[in-house]
Amino acid sequence: MEYILSPSLLACDFSVIGEELKQLEEAGVEWVHLDVMDGQFVENISFGVPFVKSIRKKTDLFFDVHLMIVEPIRFVKQFVEAGANLISFHVEATDRVKETIDKIHSLGCKAGVVCSPDTDVEEILQYADQVELLLIMSVQPGFGAQTYLEYCTAKIMKVRQYLTAHGLSAWLEVDGGINASNLKTILKAGADVIVAGNAAFSGGDIVANVKALREAGMPS
Ligand code: DX5
Ligand code: ZN
Repeated sequence: MEYILSPSLLACDFSVIGEELKQLEEAGVEWVHLDVMDGQFVENISFGVPFVKSIRKKTDLFFDVHLMIVEPIRFVKQFVEAGANLISFHVEATDRVKETIDKIHSLGCKAGVVCSPDTDVEEILQYADQVELLLIMSVQPGFGAQTYLEYCTAKIMKVRQYLTAHGLSAWLEVDGGINASNLKTILKAGADVIVAGNAAFSGGDIVANVKALREAGMPS
């Protein structure tokens, strides 16, 4: 099945970030997923604007920036200037969803809206005709290497049905707990962008990990 793989740098070895990016390119990956956490919206702090800016100098990969921060509108300009190609943000993190989408677009960047596992998909579907990407979290946001929440598969199917029924071309990204064993189910449910943190970076052989994920996603 055709899909875009977006490895999450949250699981990489930050001490050799340049090497990790090179390996992703060697593996034929086109996107990289950047998880920004503020210690408020989620119980974790990751990295911010300076990190994105500095790795932008090292790679031309498509920067898929996932903001897990409160009131994301405050920071979209800085992330666009740092090199984001797409910025997605949580509908739970702001009451200014439409305004935030418009701001991202006005800066020449693609926009996405995200729902956490326990948020109804209606909360993002109402923006489906205004964004380039819808993101369904399949673990509670904040940490990598968690287990995929099975009940999210029905949410993926619902969003795919909606996009098809309305002739919309937004990407449907799924993030959290995806590995070679459950990838196919998630693709069949309708995802076309797959985030993989642990599955892409564990053990350090990124090229082999990406190859395994590609094989697991092949039609049988
Ligand atoms: C969690 C992040 C995810 C995470 C995915 O809050 O949004 O992108 O890094 O990691 P894995 O694939 O290990 O679940
Ligand atoms: Zn993410």
